[in-house]
Amino acid sequence: MPDRLVLDYDAMLAPRLGRGIEPADIAALATRFSDIHEAVQHRYNAGDLAFLDLPAGGEVVEQIRTFAEGMGQAFDTIVVLGIGGSALGTIALRQALLRTGWNEAEAEAREFFPRLFVLDNVDPTTIAPLLDRLDLARTLFNVVSKSGSTAETLAQFLIVQQRLRAALGDEGWRGHFLFTTDPSSGPLRAIAEQDGIASLPVPPGVGGRFSVLSAVGLLPAALVGIDIDALLAGAAAMVQRCASAALHENPAGMFAALQYHAHERAGAPIHVMMPYTDRLAGVADWFRQLWAESLGKRVDTSGAVVHRGPTPVVALGATDQHSQVQLYMEGPFDKTITFLTVRSLPADLVIPHAFPDLDALAFLGGHSLGGLLEAERAATRSALTRAGRMNMTIQLPDIGAHSIGQLLMLLQLATVYAGGFYDVDPLDQPGVELGKRLTYGLLGRPGYEAPDDPAPDSRHVST
Ligand code: PA5
Repeated sequence: MPDRLVLDYDAMLAPRLGRGIEPADIAALATRFSDIHEAVQHRYNAGDLAFLDLPAGGEVVEQIRTFAEGMGQAFDTIVVLGIGGSALGTIALRQALLRTGWNEAEAEAREFFPRLFVLDNVDPTTIAPLLDRLDLARTLFNVVSKSGSTAETLAQFLIVQQRLRAALGDEGWRGHFLFTTDPSSGPLRAIAEQDGIASLPVPPGVGGRFSVLSAVGLLPAALVGIDIDALLAGAAAMVQRCASAALHENPAGMFAALQYHAHERAGAPIHVMMPYTDRLAGVADWFRQLWAESLGKRVDTSGAVVHRGPTPVVALGATDQHSQVQLYMEGPFDKTITFLTVRSLPADLVIPHAFPDLDALAFLGGHSLGGLLEAERAATRSALTRAGRMNMTIQLPDIGAHSIGQLLMLLQLATVYAGGFYDVDPLDQPGVELGKRLTYGLLGRPGYEAPDDPAPDSRHVST
């Protein structure tokens, strides 16, 4: 049986830190958590939390496998067009589970799986050069949008469609698109039906930022040879592990409870996630969106205006020890730090013995870079703990698909539980919607108003 992920929260607690969360606080959080667990179960029964069903796989996973092993073989490059929850999960999977430098590697080193690009912005300085250098005849564009109406994604689609049409003709372009979108509504669904474009569904009840284990993340993952069965099995194991309403037995519940308490009762609104490997930096970026968009809310569940929510921050070990850690160590007591670490990295390098007379170099000889990275993390954790700074550690057994599945599900469940503690709806995002509507207005979409900002000559601007 594959190993389990470990959540070590000892250094969040007052007995260890000299400040922070008291045992009596945990008892109160545990009582509250059993109600939250029950409320989450009700929402699941009502169909709102369909991401919990994704690990079970089913027909769509079969469709994904069939496409990846059949038609998908015709392409040597996959480009995902999408933004936010429609892109960050795929970026996280790519960075964690593909060898570093995948897109630059020769086909043989990629075992003839395709390159994978994710265009999650509309910056022409990135998109134009990428499109210019692609062999369009060998490229599949996976357009990912749950709503099918996000301006950034549709603009990318229109540009790519024009190029494909010019290169491959009025018929040929269609086979180079696959849409991942709502099964029955939205403009992308309409185009798929009208133009006979291949498509996969984002199940109703699965929101963008909870969609990494749906076709949104699984199709690109399968196309590049990631073991999607192991990914789903890891996620399923975590769902099962979190079935308990007892806080001490539920790692996602404990993560949510401690982060909530640290914020609302112990003065730490900032939640830093700090992986100690480049491979997990994408997971930290994905989590930042999940935590921010789910928990940053104007109103609580009763509709009262509360302006609530933690501020997630991403740092990278060991790099940011030389950038951020001074602040974490000695600045205000307004942060918790969550370390992500891996028991064994997929690659390592031994540091050679040399310069025996120079102590500053000699002590390094014989250690490995992975060992150095882990020592840096252990030392930073220890120093933060001594300084009374709340921190916790999530340790993965390895960077394999099963472990990543566990981690992604742990963090999604923790986000939903945290919504319960903060008493906000973790599944909506009304603040994002306003920005989308004003963008439509600025670009002249009928029925949408442009922002009523002051005219340029009456603004306060330094020139
Ligand atoms: O998590 C979310 O709901 C958002 O970040 C969306 O994923 C993002 O706005 C893109 O939306 P869509 O997938 O509808 O294009």
